[in-house]
Amino acid sequence: MSTLGWITAASGVRVPQVIYGTAWKKERTSALVAQALAAGFRGIDTACQPKHYDEARVGEAIADALARGTLRREELYLQTKFTSVDGQDPRRIPYDPRASLAEQVEQSFARSLENLRTTYLDALVLHSPLATRAQTSEVWRAMQTLCDGQRVRQLGLSNCYDLRELRWLCEAHELAPSVLQNRFYADTGYDREIRAYCRERGILYQSFWTLSANPYLLAHATLRAIAAHHGATPAQILFRWLTLEGCVPLTGTQSVQHLRESLAIFAIELRDEERARIGALLR
Ligand SMILES: NC(=O)c1ccc[n+]([C@@H]2O[C@H](COP(=O)([O-])OP(=O)(O)OC[C@H]3O[C@@H](n4cnc5c(N)ncnc54)[C@H](OP(=O)(O)O)[C@@H]3O)[C@@H](O)[C@H]2O)c1
Repeated sequence: MSTLGWITAASGVRVPQVIYGTAWKKERTSALVAQALAAGFRGIDTACQPKHYDEARVGEAIADALARGTLRREELYLQTKFTSVDGQDPRRIPYDPRASLAEQVEQSFARSLENLRTTYLDALVLHSPLATRAQTSEVWRAMQTLCDGQRVRQLGLSNCYDLRELRWLCEAHELAPSVLQNRFYADTGYDREIRAYCRERGILYQSFWTLSANPYLLAHATLRAIAAHHGATPAQILFRWLTLEGCVPLTGTQSVQHLRESLAIFAIELRDEERARIGALLR
């Protein structure tokens, strides 16, 4: 039975507190998504970016679980991304690169629905801000139009490491992002200020590279001691700490054991003092 925790975003959308990421899995994508769903994951992150994601194979695994009756669409939090031309493999752009930015968003969205075999997305995420604010704004306004509660339930932003840009996006547009998906690592000071801003505005912070970018943290004596005390791994403790901070870690693990461990974090009760010690490692 799944022990998955959920959190409600400011938009009212319920989001699993740990999400399965589908990047770099190529032809193994459907089998690995099926494995994550069978383990109890109910949040899936992908992108309309054939260079790194096989969105159609994500759709295949979901369709299969729906057909077998092991999953209902409304139990699933399905999130994909619009990736601008800069982030695409020029030989495999999933929309017309000569179309206007607004049209590119519409075409990418239509492709995602087709790939994922769904009629709506729980979140549409802008993969990265564009080169200029004017371009980012044009894309964001097109995403806002799609976010009508029927086609897209909430919007997100990714790879925004400049608080001024995030603030601008929130303040200059009708809809603020409900999700921010960023690399969680020391080079950005673990996005401390950005995470505080997200908390203030009710934006859900999703972390990636949480384990791979932090070998130092995972090997730290403090984290290891806390992990040993709870009979857990340092990775589980870091994930649990993040969820208690209101963040949502992504994992793209290929291992059944790591899937189970990622779901088992919700039974770990970290004391305030332990949370503070872990927080201090990120300063
Ligand atoms: N927005 C963006 O630009 C962006 C960029 C990168 C990633 N993402 C998203 O984030 C997802 C996750 O990517 P990621 O880069 O964070 O890493 P990842 O794909 O989860 O890989 C991290 C590494 O950690 C290991 N691992 C995972 N869970 C573990 C656990 N519980 N204990 C020990 N080791 C564990 C994995 O090995 P095993 O397979 O052996 O467990 C793997 O070697 C992607 O699939 C994608 O959806 C988004």
